[in-house]
Amino acid sequence: MVVGGSNGGFSQRLEVRLGKGSVDPRLFSNDGVFQRWLECLMRFNGRNLGVGLRYFMSTAPDAAQLMGMLLKLLHAKKTIEIGVYTGYSLLLTALSTPHDAMSLAIDPDREAYEIGLPIIQKAGVEHKINFIESQALPKENEGSFDFAFVDADKDNYLNYHERLLKLVKVGGLIVFDNTLWGGTVVQPEETVPRLRKETWRSIIEFNKSISTDQRVEISLAPLGDGITICRRIS
Ligand SMILES: C[S@@+](CC[C@H](N)C(=O)[O-])C[C@H]1O[C@@H](n2cnc3c(N)ncnc32)[C@H](O)[C@@H]1O
Repeated sequence: MVVGGSNGGFSQRLEVRLGKGSVDPRLFSNDGVFQRWLECLMRFNGRNLGVGLRYFMSTAPDAAQLMGMLLKLLHAKKTIEIGVYTGYSLLLTALSTPHDAMSLAIDPDREAYEIGLPIIQKAGVEHKINFIESQALPKENEGSFDFAFVDADKDNYLNYHERLLKLVKVGGLIVFDNTLWGGTVVQPEETVPRLRKETWRSIIEFNKSISTDQRVEISLAPLGDGITICRRIS
């Protein structure tokens, strides 16, 4: 597939190979369509390029769509993402923020990030990304981020929440993925599949704790695997 990018902010010519045939670049004259296409490509990229069955680790597209809208409504320029994998949600963030935005993207798995990197480059948004190969959150820049997305080790969600409350501005958003944990959060413990059980406890503890946290307003959107949107209010 060869796509010429005469569209909106994407002035670069794109050449993305995906099997036989080519697509008329005029099909992509609408930014929204073009963006959806890039995101689809990223979601399936992991599968095509050898990540195998782990492609399902990418955030669900319906949840991602809402996040893209929130980023735009917030006019977010400085974002942080914990848990990048091949970069689907990161690409979405970079495509939903202005040209001079910056996303700090943290993941110990650089190999996975590099699988998606060619699509980020082809989208012309690599300059907005600072990938850090690490498990740790940055210590500096307190109160300077507009938006945070957490999609990493669920057992640490409460720890991430505490740190991010310092890093994200009052009025900014912190979004946590997988807070419905496959719907198991409403199941009795004995019916939760063994493989889900350990994280199930952490997610339930997180959900309980955040529901009474006076420092944030929350909304649990039942999209994808559930995303909890927290707006920092103090
Ligand atoms: C579900 S995937 C992220 C999917 C990604 N948000 C997307 O939409 O494609 C979880 C990622 O979290 C990363 N991870 C696990 N522990 C982490 C930690 N302590 N800090 C940062 N990332 C971590 C894993 O390496 C993995 O790539």
